[in-house]
Amino acid sequence: MYRSSVNQNFTMRSFAIIAVALFGCVMSQGGGGANFDQIFNRYAGSDNQFSQAEFSRFWLHFDDNGDGDVSKREFDQGWRQEGFPNPENAPLFFERLDRVADEVLNAQDFPHIFRLFDEDGNGSISEREFRYNWNAYF
Ligand SMILES: *[C@@H]1O[C@H](CO)[C@@H](O)[C@H](O)[C@H]1NC(C)=O
Repeated sequence: MYRSSVNQNFTMRSFAIIAVALFGCVMSQGGGGANFDQIFNRYAGSDNQFSQAEFSRFWLHFDDNGDGDVSKREFDQGWRQEGFPNPENAPLFFERLDRVADEVLNAQDFPHIFRLFDEDGNGSISEREFRYNWNAYF
């Protein structure tokens, strides 16, 4: 009797510990952490920083019909479907990224967006620069 209630206690406690660990894991991915690593691994290349071309390629991946312009619809849908942060604000992000205001994101905007992220202006976006600005803007 005594023994089985000890076992039960032990089992309950193990479950609680596992649950807390899992919860912590999920929480630490918050704030777009998961997409952040995916973007960086996929687009930044082996030197672990963005060149202007690599950075443009990331934004252009939203261009579903391949016409060179990311429309607002393409952006909003892509942002939501890929699980990027704060999807309810995608229209505001689009407006902010559209540096040459013509309601599409394209080669006119990418150099401006690049310069916003490349804070030391040395022609490549380091992981630190990317993380800092990504978290602030989105
Ligand atoms: C830009 O600076 C980073 C360090 O902040 C360095 O790793 C990188 O090589 C530099 N890139 C260029 C093109 O100078």
